[in-house]
Amino acid sequence: MAVISKHKSAGFKVLGIETSCDETSVALLEVRGTTQPPARGTRYAVQLLHHETATQIPIHRRYGGVVPEVAARTHIAEVIKLLERADIFASEKQGFDAIAVTQGPGLATALRVGIEAARTLAYLTDVPIVGVNHLEGHLASAWLVPENREHWRFPVLVLLVSGGHSELVLMKDFCSYKVVGRTRDDASGEAFDKTAKLMGLSYPGGPILSRYAAKGNPEAYGLPRPMIHDPSLDMSFSGLKTAVRNLIHDLGPKVPEVLPDLCASIQAAIVDVLVNKTSRAIMAYKPKCLAVVGGVSANPHLQAELRKAASEHPGLIMLEPPKGFYTDNAAMIAAAGAWRLAQGKKDDWKKIDAKPELDL
Ligand code: KG4
Ligand code: ZN
Repeated sequence: MAVISKHKSAGFKVLGIETSCDETSVALLEVRGTTQPPARGTRYAVQLLHHETATQIPIHRRYGGVVPEVAARTHIAEVIKLLERADIFASEKQGFDAIAVTQGPGLATALRVGIEAARTLAYLTDVPIVGVNHLEGHLASAWLVPENREHWRFPVLVLLVSGGHSELVLMKDFCSYKVVGRTRDDASGEAFDKTAKLMGLSYPGGPILSRYAAKGNPEAYGLPRPMIHDPSLDMSFSGLKTAVRNLIHDLGPKVPEVLPDLCASIQAAIVDVLVNKTSRAIMAYKPKCLAVVGGVSANPHLQAELRKAASEHPGLIMLEPPKGFYTDNAAMIAAAGAWRLAQGKKDDWKKIDAKPELDL
């Protein structure tokens, strides 16, 4: 029985909820021109009606990384506040027609907060609920840009680079993915964060390291590019971390003085590997579009090098998330939810549960 009334309008509104790691986020995304779940293959106008993210970064910074139990407790406090501020029950303009929630991968206790909030809302409102793969969400972040939706052609090659994942994915259709390359150890975001930590930079190190790198010489220190000559599309970053640890040991007290050069050299090594593997994948799969998504796609050096590499392939269109939507957010979860609903996929609120190890 629905105890909270929903408000209908000209569009189909998807409420997105994200709590997989250290950002609590709620979004309301409207797919225009339909009051039904969007039909497969149809290109709709999309409007973000509301979006708010509460970051936990300052809390976890004290511990040098994400503490799962602290993350879950903070999500509980934040998700209710964010849902209230989304004004989903109050005004004529608001309301929602479906709920999309991150199901995994991520921290089990953190994911469960979003799932429980979403299934309670689904029970109360009787609207469909759909569990979203966080990685598919990152991919859908590029779909939030109107020009990207216009130019979106399959196959799309996706470089997915985040704190927990570094993967090359071939997207053959909406919701159809093949992982063609992946890291064999650390993710590229982890490589940024762990080497930054070795240099005494705070959490998360990626954005801080990249700011120092902008002022440094990328050729100052010769660091390894693991697996760069390997013909496979797999990557590895743990050897780089060891090399940086040894270099820092050798530099000793000189580290603060040479920090920009050190950061630029580390960044160059990570970006070289990512760009080299992406170029190989473009040659192997001849995609029509190249999407670069996930937190590390915020890195300006990576963006510039990939644009350069893409420009060597006439006709290849590069798809990037809108500024500010590189890292975790609920708008991308709502967008991926719309894709899933368009394919007739939905979940049962009684059964949906977190899947911390979910893969694409
Ligand atoms: O996608 P995301 O928000 O969370 C996960 O799903 O993991 O990605 C977070 C990662 C962190 O490792 C962070 O250091 C990295 O993205 N990151 C960056 C930059 N901004 C965020 N890495 C390099 N350069 C940046 N500008
Ligand atoms: Zn993420």
